[in-house]
Amino acid sequence: MATTILINSNKGGVGKSAQCRELACALARAGWQVDVADMAPQGNTTRRFGIDRAALAAAGHPGTADLIDPTKNITYHQTLVPVEWDVPWTGNIRVAPSLNAINMQNRNLEAGRPGAERRLFAALRGQTEDRHVVLIDTDPGMDHLMAVALAAADGLLITVELDYDAVEGGVNVVSYLNANKVLMGLEDVRVVGVVVTKARRELSATARVQEENLPQAFAAAGGPELIWTPSVPLYDTLAAALSDAQPLEAYNHPSARRLEDVFAAHAAQLVKAIGY
Ligand SMILES: Nc1ncnc2c1ncn2[C@@H]1O[C@H](COP(=O)(O)OP(=O)(O)OP(=O)(O)O)[C@@H](O)[C@H]1O
Ligand SMILES: [Mg+2]
Repeated sequence: MATTILINSNKGGVGKSAQCRELACALARAGWQVDVADMAPQGNTTRRFGIDRAALAAAGHPGTADLIDPTKNITYHQTLVPVEWDVPWTGNIRVAPSLNAINMQNRNLEAGRPGAERRLFAALRGQTEDRHVVLIDTDPGMDHLMAVALAAADGLLITVELDYDAVEGGVNVVSYLNANKVLMGLEDVRVVGVVVTKARRELSATARVQEENLPQAFAAAGGPELIWTPSVPLYDTLAAALSDAQPLEAYNHPSARRLEDVFAAHAAQLVKAIGY
């Protein structure tokens, strides 16, 4: 069965979805079979894979909101959409898309029901035997939806910028896991890595202090080897590739090759962390 990794941080805009897409691409380039389950209501990751969310929704295609809706009998396989990019590895990625914003009002009603947190876990169970990794993307909220995503995860990957509030947002996720893992039956879930995103070439003195502080800040999650290297550089090429919904291969610029190398190193660290 696939190893499921939740990419998370309790801070908006720190590059969670960017990390999710590029890590999936790097794994796919290396020949691994990857699914991306987009649990973020805004569906940025779904769109950034070149998937036409509006067209799918209009055609009645089910997304992740439907998958965790107990009033609908949707299977995980029914949600899956291929990625149709002009790259040799495109067939190695499938996306469980976020189409209609997950209705939090309904989810909050649902949250009072037995097993509500385990809807995604149950939907994935037995459905990912032919995959190596499932990456789950979420929004930064630490609400019921985050609990649903966490309950389906074997491991957590945290993204942080070198900024006080962003590091705190990452640490909040570790605290949440540690505070709730016994209650939620998630004793075996561990943090597989902490990724520094949007790193400027010249770190400011403040950013350098945050960088030095990272092993200490994440001490409760593991040792300094948790901090993945290298950091993701702040490059316009990545912002463009995400905005244009194109793979890095579409950009004939050295920064695109550099980004491919960075995410290949991350993919190797993930593969090592999960023991493939
Ligand atoms: N390494 C990078 N270099 C340049 N731009 C980046 C980089 N990483 C992310 N971005 C840009 O920063 C913005 C936020 O990134 P992204 O959407 O991945 O963050 P997020 O944490 O998923 O946000 P949210 O909290 O809304 O889910 C996007 O416009 C994206 O293109
Ligand atoms: Mg996001």
